[in-house]
Amino acid sequence: MPRALITGITGQDGQHLSEFLHEKGYEVFGLMKGQNNPKAESLLAEFPFIRLVSGDLTDFSSLVAALRVVEPTEVYNLGAISFVAMSFNQAELTSNVTGVGVLRMLEAIRLVGGPNNNPIRFYQASSSEMYGQVREIPQSELTAFHPRSPYGVAKVFGHHMTVNYRESYGLHASSGILFNHEGPRRGYEFVTRKISHSVARIKLGLQDTLLLGNLAAKRDWGYAGDYVKAMWLMLQQDQPDDYVIATGETHEITEFLQLAFECAGLGDWKKYVGIDKQYFRPAEVDLLVGDASKAEQKLGWKREVDFPSLVEMMVRHDLDMEARRAK
Ligand code: NAP
Ligand code: GDD
Repeated sequence: MPRALITGITGQDGQHLSEFLHEKGYEVFGLMKGQNNPKAESLLAEFPFIRLVSGDLTDFSSLVAALRVVEPTEVYNLGAISFVAMSFNQAELTSNVTGVGVLRMLEAIRLVGGPNNNPIRFYQASSSEMYGQVREIPQSELTAFHPRSPYGVAKVFGHHMTVNYRESYGLHASSGILFNHEGPRRGYEFVTRKISHSVARIKLGLQDTLLLGNLAAKRDWGYAGDYVKAMWLMLQQDQPDDYVIATGETHEITEFLQLAFECAGLGDWKKYVGIDKQYFRPAEVDLLVGDASKAEQKLGWKREVDFPSLVEMMVRHDLDMEARRAK
């Protein structure tokens, strides 16, 4: 039976990937940080099949110990400080977890090896944030990086380390350059979930306004459930490689706002949305749009959920959730 070790198990993608791998017959292990992580209980309540092992991406020996205990056939490194805005305030921590954490895991895999002398296959959660101030439109695996945040810089480090360990030691290490992906499990700090959650609360009379930052940014937004399938597909290939995963469409935040407020029957979003300087970033990524043709051709991957369906899914989920809470 294949065994997966997932870092970032409590995050949006960790949850989707666990569910997906479990359905495929995997034994699923998750790396859990902290001495009494409050997220453990709710995670196990929803996904009772997950087995937790203690460890932290900033602690090398805990990664070695986790690999020895689990003996995984595949490692998915999803753990990170992933909130770009926070990375400006905690740049050193972000570099350590999101950047050097990748090196620690690669080195641990190289030293520990895999069960029965089978090499462990490794997935690195790289990001479209690495393109930053984009050099070409759309962005592909060949587009140069110009990161615009400490988070983006850390991801570039992790990406290049993954490629380097593949080339230097022959590790089956792949890097998925994933564009923004969202859904009802998205953290509330990210703009799409902040909008869908606020729309639900405004509709139910629990909130009056929604304060946001730069509304002109454009993102290539897909559904997280579609994107974790691409992670798995990368590790099933004979040869490791790097792949862009994206929808190929870009939308302004105002388009997300329009669809979300309409979906809840609230009409014009401008009546409810205000601008607050605190949500602007020292440097912004203005536009992202990915070219996933390599993944489509080589992995047979294709997104299933389109942009309007994604917005609707998130708003309907949050309306139901808030209505249940209000009872
Ligand atoms: P997320 O919801 O923010 O989850 C991040 C996870 O990392 C959490 O489980 C968190 O654990 C864990 N973590 C934080 N610090 C850690 C540490 N020191 N050691 C071990 N684990 C640690 O992120 P996501 O949206 O699921 O994204 C998954 C990965 O894909 C991340 O690496 C992200 O940077 C990358 N990515 C995401 C997107 C996207 O649009 N979602 C796009 C491209 C790349 P706690 O909950 O215990 O803090
Ligand atoms: N979070 C947030 N909150 N963003 C806002 C707000 C707000 O109130 N107002 C405007 N924005 C703008 C941000 O300035 C940014 O341009 C855009 O909305 C998207 O912000 P986020 O949803 O925080 O995502 P992100 O694009 O910065 O980063 C996400 O995607 C990356 C892939 O490109 C994260 O998931 C990263 O971990 C991921 O790598």
